[in-house]
Amino acid sequence: MADTQSQDAIALLKEDHRKVEELFKEFESASGDGRKEKLAKQICLELSVHAQIEEEIFYPACEGVVDEDLLKESYVEHDAAKVLIAEIEAAGGESDEFFDAKVKVLSEEIEHHVEEEEKRETGVFSQARKGDLDMDALGEQLAARKQQLLEEFKARGVPTPELTTMGEVSV
Ligand SMILES: [Fe+2]
Ligand SMILES: [Fe+2]
Repeated sequence: MADTQSQDAIALLKEDHRKVEELFKEFESASGDGRKEKLAKQICLELSVHAQIEEEIFYPACEGVVDEDLLKESYVEHDAAKVLIAEIEAAGGESDEFFDAKVKVLSEEIEHHVEEEEKRETGVFSQARKGDLDMDALGEQLAARKQQLLEEFKARGVPTPELTTMGEVSV
């Protein structure tokens, strides 16, 4: 979809989910380390941008509308994914015997997280829909920030993720 087209916030976020699912599928069937590395890099880029726009714009807008515990879980799930993303970014394919396993586990974590967001009736998106949020305005904000971050990360690489909920221990 063209970036200029205006999109409802939830439609935009769901489209991101579908895109990443597609990339994970491609990764599974890809052969050759070069191809896998390239796909893994793209997955990390897409997920980093997606998590950041949700945390900067969408989740804060959901406060007071979406169940607090569910939102907290979402932040923690993002952080868990960020740890693997940082690992995958740093590992760089063939040299890491756990590379494929890390991408696989990341895909499983994301599958679970996406389910929590998209679950009918009780998911984050469903609950947000029932609230009084301006999804068109939010969609515009998300799209603009997404574009900005994509350009930034493509130019400078995906930065080391910042954890939002974890900091008690350093491992
Ligand atoms: Fe999401
Ligand atoms: Fe999320």
